[in-house]
Amino acid sequence: MEKNKELVKTEKYRPHLHFTPQEMWMNDPNGLVYFEGEYHLFYQYHPQNKKWGPMHWGHAVSKDLLKWQHLPIALYPDELGYIFSGSVVVDWEDTSGFFDGGHGLIAMFTHAKEELQRQSIAYSKDQGRTWKKYEGNPVIENPNIQDFRDPKVIWHEASRQWAMVLAAGKKVIFYTSPDLKSWSLASEFGEGWGAQEGTWECPDIFPLQHQTTGEQKWVLQIGIDAGGPAGGSGTQYFIGDFDGKTFSPEQRKHEIYWLDLGKDFYAAQSFSDVPDEQRIVLAWMSNWQYANEVPTHPWRSAMSIPRELSLQTIDGEDRVIQTPVKTLEENKESFHSLSSFEVEQGEEVEIRQPRAPFRVIVEVEYEAGFEVQLFAGEDGKKFSIGLNGKEVYFERDFGEETSFSSDFTGRFHQQLLSSTKKAKLSILCDESSVEVFLNEGETALTNLYLPVQKTEQQINVRSTDGKTLVHSIHIDRFDINR
Ligand code: FRU
Repeated sequence: MEKNKELVKTEKYRPHLHFTPQEMWMNDPNGLVYFEGEYHLFYQYHPQNKKWGPMHWGHAVSKDLLKWQHLPIALYPDELGYIFSGSVVVDWEDTSGFFDGGHGLIAMFTHAKEELQRQSIAYSKDQGRTWKKYEGNPVIENPNIQDFRDPKVIWHEASRQWAMVLAAGKKVIFYTSPDLKSWSLASEFGEGWGAQEGTWECPDIFPLQHQTTGEQKWVLQIGIDAGGPAGGSGTQYFIGDFDGKTFSPEQRKHEIYWLDLGKDFYAAQSFSDVPDEQRIVLAWMSNWQYANEVPTHPWRSAMSIPRELSLQTIDGEDRVIQTPVKTLEENKESFHSLSSFEVEQGEEVEIRQPRAPFRVIVEVEYEAGFEVQLFAGEDGKKFSIGLNGKEVYFERDFGEETSFSSDFTGRFHQQLLSSTKKAKLSILCDESSVEVFLNEGETALTNLYLPVQKTEQQINVRSTDGKTLVHSIHIDRFDINR
């Protein structure tokens, strides 16, 4: 066992803070639920190959959302097809009748057989360790819609029934149920709304509190498999109200709100039943443009750092704010701090970079443009994240192995939500990823990065245009004793 742990630690690109399967292919997070002291993470899994194929549900549990224990595969394909994405809820009141008056876990997922996608359920009476598929499956037949998948179930307390949202082409459909077995069509949302380039996948719907006013609104979160903010897969959301049957958006029809502006934050899902109404989301840290080719071995794909969500008003509009889970703070040790100095135009300050995983927090006031370079060194290869006026950009041209996809490299620009000459960047780096949280999480950018393995790495803070006043730089390392 110990030996195994060591192996995992030394594998090239293997993250420490981010969940990866021990081996083989993984995509979407599924069935995220907190139950009896454990966070459960199920995931789209192909146990025989490092490429997508017959989908199973892999399984892991954690007490702190950082250290995960791998468990046996939870759901296997069967005569109704592959097991596509879905969700898990706690049936506290035994509405399903599966738990002899007690309670337990119910999974709802898509059964996919060739072109036919239908919804099914399974239940577990032993904390998710073993599952039994319901003999009445599928519980929702296909209504003649090709892309009809990824059910996300919630308990809607105000109407005292189950509500479910699933993706159907370029819209979502809502259903309701008293018992998780019989489902009635409630409403549809999304035709012509928000980003429409790709197929809608993996929806989620949840209430969120406004950080300042305490007001509660509903967020409908949706993955689109093409046309994301930096190309390919992306995650958009709508803010509005939900009465258990119908979602009423607040924003304008063609306005697009992205949850993350990077290239690698997809199929985001939130945990059900987390205490204190916390809303914790994690996503698959990849992009369908190149997911099947990313050169890691013997596994492929990682999950993002779990994030806590809330609402805040930015420039007059309510937006989703995200920060990494608090348990991260319990595992940090301070590595280096600097404060109060100026960087002239075209100059940079170079700081020794610790071994990943680490986080660098940079607070600056800048005239026109600055950037932070990570995994930098004499070879000029690096990941950059920069701001200039109203734009944020990232660039990852110079990784070691980028030839596997032309979509992986390049410089990507996005409009900032608010333009200011002050910025705080909190940048979380692991062995093969960089997650940036800008201005207390009002903008997030998640990207894979495959750094060149060199003995000395640097963090550079560079003034690209005008002067930059660096108020502080603080670097923490993380050790979660994997
Ligand atoms: C999203 C997705 C889902 C589907 C699953 C199949 O990445 O395409 O819509 O259920 O992956 O693995």
